[in-house]
Amino acid sequence: MSETLSLKQLTDELNRLEEKAVKDISQIVDTNSLEQFRVNLLGKKGNLSKILGSMSGLSGSERPVVGQQANLLKKKLQDLVSDRLSQIEKESLRELIAKETIDVTLPPSGTLLGHRHPLSKTTEEILDLFSGLGYVVEEGPEVENDYYNFAALNIPEDHPARDMQDTFYLGGDLLLRTHTSPVQIRYLEKNPPPVRIVAPGRVYRRDAVDATHSPVFHQVEVLAIDEGLDFSHLRGTVMAFLKAFFGDLPVRFRASYFPFTEPSAEVDVQWRGRWLEVMGCGMVDPEVLEGLGIDSERWTGFAAGLGVERFCMVRHEIDDIRRLYTSDLRFLEQF
Ligand code: DAH
Repeated sequence: MSETLSLKQLTDELNRLEEKAVKDISQIVDTNSLEQFRVNLLGKKGNLSKILGSMSGLSGSERPVVGQQANLLKKKLQDLVSDRLSQIEKESLRELIAKETIDVTLPPSGTLLGHRHPLSKTTEEILDLFSGLGYVVEEGPEVENDYYNFAALNIPEDHPARDMQDTFYLGGDLLLRTHTSPVQIRYLEKNPPPVRIVAPGRVYRRDAVDATHSPVFHQVEVLAIDEGLDFSHLRGTVMAFLKAFFGDLPVRFRASYFPFTEPSAEVDVQWRGRWLEVMGCGMVDPEVLEGLGIDSERWTGFAAGLGVERFCMVRHEIDDIRRLYTSDLRFLEQF
């Protein structure tokens, strides 16, 4: 701008510039626009310089008047810009703080807690119910030998359970226990009757995996030996337990055979319109007691072996045993 202006015009221009700048600056809300505004106003090619560039028409005495006004104005505008800058910075800090504030009174979004596995819970429930009837929890080894797993339980040499097809043999005399019944023998060896125990644990069989079979599964063994126990005590105990566990599911006892009990039965519950076997049981065979040096004329008792997976599946409406072993969180989180 090379047009020359009179003193009055210049003074008016400066006043107008000031007035407009004061108004505009209050509208600016971010630091980039503010810097742009400062350059346009006060920079080398800014509006203030442009006005001052039109001073060439003024007399020697007029120039200092405008110069002084311009300097004061420049100082004022610089102060305005720096005030506005600190205001904007304060505001954005306040916004940031507000945005990032943690409301400690909000309910937690949910910490992922571990769950006990449904099989563990089922086992615990079974043990709890028997504890309430005075039974003591006992455990035995998963690696067993032929004596405890078979011979002491009256299972003959040629019994199919002893077949390589059914049992995992480990070499020598050792094997993976095929049931929890050996705990009966181990316990009775050390504890004379009367006894009442429940023995939970893993058992192993050479079964192919399908919806109802797994080579590793869980049982709870029950054993009660006392004077005067008969089948009615077995039946009463089993019925009371099943009622406590399942409520009113239909139950039936079916005559069966196990080498270590006489008589023997299998117990089914009705689930989804079909009978499902959930345990084997019977009166402990006198042969087993005599083998341990226990007088079978005086002491009698009953035993049962419960399939924990079956109890768990019926209770929780689980259709496939494999769900219990695949550790899928979407499944496990339901328990
Ligand atoms: N041990 C048997 C099995 O695994 C189940 C069983 C049946 C256990 C009868 C018992 C019993 O204690 O009396 O197939």
